[in-house]
Amino acid sequence: MTSIESPHIPVMPTESLQWLAVKPHGTYLDCTAGAGGHSQLIAQALETGRLIALDRDKTAVEMTSRRLESFDCVRVLHANYGTLTQTLKTIEINQLDGILLDAGCSSMQLDQGERGFSFQSEGPLDMRMDTDEGETARDFLMRVSEGELATILRDYGDIGPVKRIAAAIKKRANAQKLEYTPDLVAAVEDAFPTLSRTPDEVRTVFQAVRMAVNQELRWLTQGLEQGIDALAPQGRLVVISFHSGEDRVMKRVLREASRVKRTHQPDGRVASEEPAKVKVLTRKPILPGEEEIMRNPRAKSAKLRVIERI
Ligand SMILES: C[S@@+](CC[C@H](N)C(=O)[O-])C[C@H]1O[C@@H](n2cnc3c(N)ncnc32)[C@H](O)[C@@H]1O
Repeated sequence: MTSIESPHIPVMPTESLQWLAVKPHGTYLDCTAGAGGHSQLIAQALETGRLIALDRDKTAVEMTSRRLESFDCVRVLHANYGTLTQTLKTIEINQLDGILLDAGCSSMQLDQGERGFSFQSEGPLDMRMDTDEGETARDFLMRVSEGELATILRDYGDIGPVKRIAAAIKKRANAQKLEYTPDLVAAVEDAFPTLSRTPDEVRTVFQAVRMAVNQELRWLTQGLEQGIDALAPQGRLVVISFHSGEDRVMKRVLREASRVKRTHQPDGRVASEEPAKVKVLTRKPILPGEEEIMRNPRAKSAKLRVIERI
């Protein structure tokens, strides 16, 4: 297991806390506990309030539980934020004063070679955040068709020659030569026989496969929709994305919830009107400062958006 001495560094910690505007007596949810960095900051701002911290990765749950064991106000749960409504019902929480969702994977997941997330360490092609469920990356790459894989690489990776890369990966999978992370690196290299491939292409392929294996955008959509419904009036949702696909989902769900929904009669008159659920507090995303990016290069692609329940 990753040591607690080298945990994930929380991204935009000051901005996250400022925008969450923690009320000392409120009820808060951290959807993505990770190493517990953001959770710790929220817990420190609470007096009689409480914080629920979730993660679908058991290692993160263990790490956050240990880090925050001295805070009585914190409850750490192993759960997927995509099924938030059910989780809140189980723990008998009706409304939340604030939610934080810091998307993607953590540096601990990348650092644990045996999890298969990183092209820089050797391990089995697993990549599951929740090792209790779903297909491993290896099984996924064996099952998926070449065409589907090319679409996934295009949608999640935005890499040019997706068909060539998908064909090279499937060739290795069909030859039963796709078991470990170096095999996937080699497959990307096979796709560029005359060019020297850049680490960026390999990194992007790993990221795309990880997002598909964990169905990340599907759960993100559900988690955001359910989170918005669980917010108390004036409750805030702070979201941080690292990938253009994540940011697209966030913008779409937040924009949808901020719209007044009208249906019309055949003559054009308004038949029904459903008020907007939220107002968007950040017209443009908040970006990390240069000093933070120097200190924590992972912050470079982060975008923070905030909405408030009406
Ligand atoms: C960027 S890290 C969070 C880091 C955290 N804010 C901190 O300060 O340490 C993202 C975390 O979200 C978790 N995660 C991703 N998708 C999830 C989901 N659908 N449900 C619950 N946790 C999820 C990952 O396992 C990972 O630990």
